[in-house]
Amino acid sequence: MKGIVLAGGSGTRLHPLTVAFSKQLLPLYDKPMIYYPLSTLMLGGVREFLIISTPADLPLFRKLLGTGAELGLRISYAEQQRPAGIAEAFRIGADFVGSDPVSLILGDNIFHSPQLPGLLARGMADADGCTLFGHTVADPRPYGVVEKDAEGRLVGIEEKPAHPRSSEIVTGLYVYSPDVVELAHQIRPSARGELEITDVNRHYLAQGRARLHSLGPDSTWLDAGTYDGLLDAAAFVRSEQRRGIRIACPEEIAFRMGYIDADALYRLGSRRQNSGYGRYLMDISRGAVEAGVGA
Ligand code: TTP
Repeated sequence: MKGIVLAGGSGTRLHPLTVAFSKQLLPLYDKPMIYYPLSTLMLGGVREFLIISTPADLPLFRKLLGTGAELGLRISYAEQQRPAGIAEAFRIGADFVGSDPVSLILGDNIFHSPQLPGLLARGMADADGCTLFGHTVADPRPYGVVEKDAEGRLVGIEEKPAHPRSSEIVTGLYVYSPDVVELAHQIRPSARGELEITDVNRHYLAQGRARLHSLGPDSTWLDAGTYDGLLDAAAFVRSEQRRGIRIACPEEIAFRMGYIDADALYRLGSRRQNSGYGRYLMDISRGAVEAGVGA
């Protein structure tokens, strides 16, 4: 299955942190931010990735993630010349998508949700139009806000409303059927000069081909694109780690998904054995060998 991680943009809300450096490479507690969206898609079964970023930052993502072969993935890279909107991902990634369903995740969106891997995998298996994932937030005004009818069906999306009609927003994770490429070529830039993903989603909604899964209260979603979001996300990851849950280790996920064996996991961990991260991977590998799993 295919997935695009959109990791460009200008990151103005985080200035000056992001003047000289990519937002999606900033540390989120113990790992670079992009590990989180990458892991979210991996848990949904994605193995073929396209990472889109700015010409200046793309080499850094390549340095961090390489070809993906060591994790049993295929990772390719493409430049976005300027931040011309989220939906431009499908113009840039047209060849990558080809005739397959595709998921798109924003590189600063952090998910931790027990339901999500299953919803994502099913969404991709029977993709028709778009599948969106909603989450309730305290202040929905900076986001695309969901409107539902009495039966809970999606009937509208309002972009950054001054007076939101609900507190549920469209998160930065989407599943599309392959005709999204055509649609992304048809839409025109908005008043702010961007190809808006909400316009794509509204087209599908008008065709009756938009689905919404509302993530429940046991799910966490964070936008790490603001000072508070960045700090909240790091604090969340650390507090989960303190109760023994490590979020978003792509090497561990590759092992649990059966893409690499326990030996390969151990080797990946031993390369970073000076850090708690590396030692954690080695411990998982040892534990699995002792239990006779995945060797
Ligand atoms: P935003 O957070 O909406 O935009 P931004 O990253 O430019 O930040 P700011 O609002 O602070 O200026 O973008 C959401 C995600 O999508 C983020 O990971 C960056 C990415 N993105 C691109 O890669 N290209 C784009 O053209 C846009 C608009 C966003």
